[in-house]
Amino acid sequence: ATKEKEIMKEGHELLARLYHHCLTNTEYGQKAKEYLYNRGFTDEMIDHFQIGFAPESWDFATSFLQKRNFTLQTMEEAGILAKREFDRKFYDRFRSRIMFPIWDTQGKNIAFGGRIMGDGEPKYLNSPETRIFHKSKTLYGYHMARPDMRKDDKAILFEGYVDVIAAWKAGITNAVATLGTSLTQDQAKLLSRNVNTVVICYDSDQAGINAAFRATEHIEKMDCNVRIAQMPPGLDPDDYIQNYGGERFKQDVLGASLTVMAFKMQFMRRGKNLQDEGERMRYIEEILHEIAKLPKAVERDHYLRQLAEEFNLSLDALKQQQYQAFVNQK
Ligand code: UTP
Ligand code: MN
Ligand code: MN
Ligand code: MN
Ligand code: MN
Repeated sequence: ATKEKEIMKEGHELLARLYHHCLTNTEYGQKAKEYLYNRGFTDEMIDHFQIGFAPESWDFATSFLQKRNFTLQTMEEAGILAKREFDRKFYDRFRSRIMFPIWDTQGKNIAFGGRIMGDGEPKYLNSPETRIFHKSKTLYGYHMARPDMRKDDKAILFEGYVDVIAAWKAGITNAVATLGTSLTQDQAKLLSRNVNTVVICYDSDQAGINAAFRATEHIEKMDCNVRIAQMPPGLDPDDYIQNYGGERFKQDVLGASLTVMAFKMQFMRRGKNLQDEGERMRYIEEILHEIAKLPKAVERDHYLRQLAEEFNLSLDALKQQQYQAFVNQK
């Protein structure tokens, strides 16, 4: 059974090489290459992340693997091929897509994400769960980012593969991404084994903000610090880097990352007029509520002081009010 898993990985490996060759050296890949260049991908990025192209064919991978003496049934179980119901014939799962190899923690190719060129559904077609690919335990780019994550004692967490790749071009080599789901406990564990700080840099829409809070819980559970970096609404990290360049991304996005509490404060401020006494009081109460949830006394004290200072209130009054809120909750 271990042998079979090795064969599954080997199939991925060879196919990734073929897809990459198809993109970079053949006319089949010409349009795909133009698409990537238009999006700001360079040859260096294409090589480093072994990006490829699966041509428009039902048997490109199938016949290649067959020629190499792979058992097609095994390749179907590996997620590379699919099987037609009515005549039980195998065919290529990925057709006419830009191919992003996905690796396990050891750097073995275990899955693919295939992007359609332009619009269409699904935008990304991913390998299914298999014996070698467990989405919830995999982080895109992990094995490449690990050395620099450890060196910096910090990891950057993105939503998309393309964000990792764009950041790499900008010299940010400690970044990983989840694979279209929110961060799992297993993935948080993987990060916490290497670093003490994770900077979450998700899209700034409501979905991204909610996902960031969920990810925070998993990461903090591993006794790891979280910071949240934000972009202007409507842009993801890749868009931001394309528009403003890597240096500004490092300074104005990553460099301006906030602690979770500071991020919550900023978030709760939105749409409130703090000149208005009622709204101000409501804001202070919401923040007190959040501060009360912090596990460490030093942290609670820090933010209480900050709040007292900002609104020119006495620390005692805040503590009293927080205590009152706490009692009322019971
Ligand atoms: P995004 O839609 O943010 O992708 O999804 P992206 O990285 O910005 O891609 P581009 O720039 O449009 O090419 C984030 C992640 O969610 C997963 C993928 O893992 C993607 O990287 N996803 C997204 C899917 O699995 N399927 C989809 O149809 C869309
Ligand atoms: Mn190459
Ligand atoms: Mn998004
Ligand atoms: Mn995105
Ligand atoms: Mn994008």
